[in-house]
Amino acid sequence: MEQYEIFEHDVLVIGAGGAGLRAAIAAAEAGLTVGLVCKSLLGKAHTVMAEGGIAAALGGVDPQDNWQVHFADTMRGGQFINDWRMAEIHAKEAPERVLELERWGALFDRTPEGKILQRPFGAHTYRRLSHVGDRTGLEMIRTLQDRAIQAGIDVYPEVTTTALLKDGARIAGAFGYRRETGRFILFPAKAVILATGGWGRIWQVTSNSWESTGDGAAMAYEVGADLRDVEMMQVHPTGMVWPPGVRGLLVTEAVRGEGGVLRNSQGERFMLRYDPQKKDLSSRDVVARAINQEVLEGRGSPHGGAFLDVTPLGADRIRQKLPNMYDQYLKLADIDITKVPMEVAPTVHYAMGGLRVEPESGATTVPGLYAAGEVASGLHGANRLGGNSLSDLVVFGKRAGECAATYSRDLPATLQVPRDVVEAEIVRVLAPFERDGNENPFLLHEELQATMQERASIIRTGEGLQKALEKILELKERSRRTRITGSRMYNPGWHMTIDLDCMLTLSEAVVRAAIARRESRGAHYRLDHPNKDPEFGKLNIIARKSRGEMTITTVPVPPMPEELARLFT
Ligand code: FUM
Repeated sequence: MEQYEIFEHDVLVIGAGGAGLRAAIAAAEAGLTVGLVCKSLLGKAHTVMAEGGIAAALGGVDPQDNWQVHFADTMRGGQFINDWRMAEIHAKEAPERVLELERWGALFDRTPEGKILQRPFGAHTYRRLSHVGDRTGLEMIRTLQDRAIQAGIDVYPEVTTTALLKDGARIAGAFGYRRETGRFILFPAKAVILATGGWGRIWQVTSNSWESTGDGAAMAYEVGADLRDVEMMQVHPTGMVWPPGVRGLLVTEAVRGEGGVLRNSQGERFMLRYDPQKKDLSSRDVVARAINQEVLEGRGSPHGGAFLDVTPLGADRIRQKLPNMYDQYLKLADIDITKVPMEVAPTVHYAMGGLRVEPESGATTVPGLYAAGEVASGLHGANRLGGNSLSDLVVFGKRAGECAATYSRDLPATLQVPRDVVEAEIVRVLAPFERDGNENPFLLHEELQATMQERASIIRTGEGLQKALEKILELKERSRRTRITGSRMYNPGWHMTIDLDCMLTLSEAVVRAAIARRESRGAHYRLDHPNKDPEFGKLNIIARKSRGEMTITTVPVPPMPEELARLFT
């Protein structure tokens, strides 16, 4: 039998973006041994794609702001299928997490009086986003990474985890392999925190990079965790469109926050028609559908998008406030955004659905398994407000780290991972080298992306979703016949085969949940059910593995207590 390395920790954190780092810091500062697994290199995380700022009601530039207004904005944005308690915790704790980042060394932009500067963002009532130019996520990762290293965390870079392991009903660790060498690793752990982010790579046009294949959610689903509202996939209104090699790359909402406006091919500022009040800073679902509609009605830009014009701000301000966007367009598209408008189109950006977690602790429905950040669900409901992702990561990352630490410390029993379970996982993971078959995992991925883009993106129909489901089931069948040649030393075909399994699981869940939600709400828009249905507004959709099959059920959205409900009357 294959040999494997063994690294044991009290708490294992899988995923090293903002949520994973914050969780790891919390668990380490509680005095426990912590392992941090990154699929890529440390510091390379989707967190950096939240560029425009971190949302927190500091009230620094708009003193009227407070946690109640932030809470209400988040619930309204999520169209009331959010978990109210998560939204409450988030709004109350986000300011302290921002100040903590500052104490740890994050250099936020400042007002002339020296306060943390905050900018406006879509559907936030007040200027609420603390930022570092248009590189806020990057600054957060830099800060958290320094702190995590100081806290003495063991980091495992370039490791893909393939399975969560249980001892009876409890999580007992994870299994994975080094991407570079193909060598296997067993990580026994009393508690595991998933912070693996989303699954944007299921779609053709996405801001997500290669790591975002839903590994954590798929592994958790396999061991019985519930997925909630995964039909809710956020399409960010503005990604790059041209040249083709950069299609989907994020164009931060900060461009509109700083005063950039969208225009169609006739020069019309079309958002005035779609949302006369919030205009270009309407919620993301509304702006993305508006651009899509302009293109469908023949008023799109040359490559199928819209124009985003920031030139009236002037070159100095653009280079000061949006340095990353300036460089991005100049280097990648040979466009000087101080002189001409950018061309932009919607791009799949963020999974609002994900693992169902307990609001206070991030505990999933599997004992010993926690989740934080994009892989978890509840805070954002049907549509996330920009900037709430970064505050989500630090608020719930910290809580998950602390709660997993307490669980791990209090665990009465010693956990065992049966050797035969590990050996079965090795056989499963190596199967593509052994089996007969002629399917190419890269081509299957392309077919999956084309299907999801056409049938499960901004505009959906029951018929289209049904066809998507049939295609996914066909691809699942064909994925059992992928055959990989060569060695396990950095073998991209093998990696894709493993990622593809996760993406197919998530695609099936997204499509089945989208079929079940026979209404339109937030990011989920069905042409055959174009309105909100109050009955669905009371339900979260759950996907769960039961007797080897994916089942879809519903659970009631937790009712809001009277004192919070009053904020909406
Ligand atoms: O547009 C942006 O800068 C993205 C922010 C976010 O997704 O929160």
